[in-house]
Amino acid sequence: MIEVKNITFSYQNHKVFNNLSFSIKKGEYLCIIGKNGSGKSTLAKLLAGLIFSQEGSIKISGYDTKNPKDLLEIRKLVGIIFQNPENQIITTTVFDEVIFGLENLATPREQIKEIAEKSLKTVGLFEYKDRLTYQLSGGEKQRLAIASILAMGTDILIFDEATSMLDPVGKKQILKLMKELNSQGKTIIHITHDRNDILEASKVMVLSKGEMKYQDVPYKIFEDDEFTPFLIKIKDILEKNNIKIEDKNINIKDLVRIVYENIS
Ligand SMILES: Nc1ncnc2c1ncn2[C@@H]1O[C@H](COP(=O)(O)OP(=O)(O)O)[C@@H](O)[C@H]1O
Ligand SMILES: [Mg+2]
Repeated sequence: MIEVKNITFSYQNHKVFNNLSFSIKKGEYLCIIGKNGSGKSTLAKLLAGLIFSQEGSIKISGYDTKNPKDLLEIRKLVGIIFQNPENQIITTTVFDEVIFGLENLATPREQIKEIAEKSLKTVGLFEYKDRLTYQLSGGEKQRLAIASILAMGTDILIFDEATSMLDPVGKKQILKLMKELNSQGKTIIHITHDRNDILEASKVMVLSKGEMKYQDVPYKIFEDDEFTPFLIKIKDILEKNNIKIEDKNINIKDLVRIVYENIS
């Protein structure tokens, strides 16, 4: 449902993508992982039709981000939750924030309340509906941003390092929500530079210097030289916890599972 074909993108003189192609299926939970400057945020903005490639095309459910007539539809299909919780809240109260987009879409009054309440319940903020937005914690602000996107009926949610500024509890809640939304059929694209975020995803895509290195099962990155420090960390954790791995030929997948079960 997301088709990226041969895109080339540069900021002024700085080239970020050269002939990049990939596709993402409907209902997938994809983690896009890459180091700082690898082009993750640029890709998120390209997918949402906020910026446009110089060459190639991006199609979302058949709609072309470069076709001005398709953009309204794409805005409804794709939502981004950005890194900084402070930068995406517009209104004063929680309820007003969720209905903001709906009012702009001229949704009938009776429906607005129903949709807003349902979205707030999904993210666990229904009890907070009359609160002032500036009083929310970072994690609550991110959940409110998610509710606003859900209220629009959006199918594809892109989280651009949306948990990186949160405390561990806030982060855990957002990760849990990603999983829940995915099980309800939403397509989740979680952009992160944190390797620990990938375990729940159905697929991982590694971006490296503007190129897609591969798309594979999450465990694949543990065999990736670029992520070797993680293997060293695993070894440390194993030793500290006296975890003995009897099978010398254990595969990475089982090894990671054992560690994961022992530390979570
Ligand atoms: N507005 C901009 N103008 C010029 N260069 C930019 C701009 N935004 C990002 N870049 C550069 O493009 C590259 C990719 O940036 P970005 O997509 O933000 O990477 P990431 O999100 O993976 O850290 C980086 O080298 C960055 O410095
Ligand atoms: Mg970024």
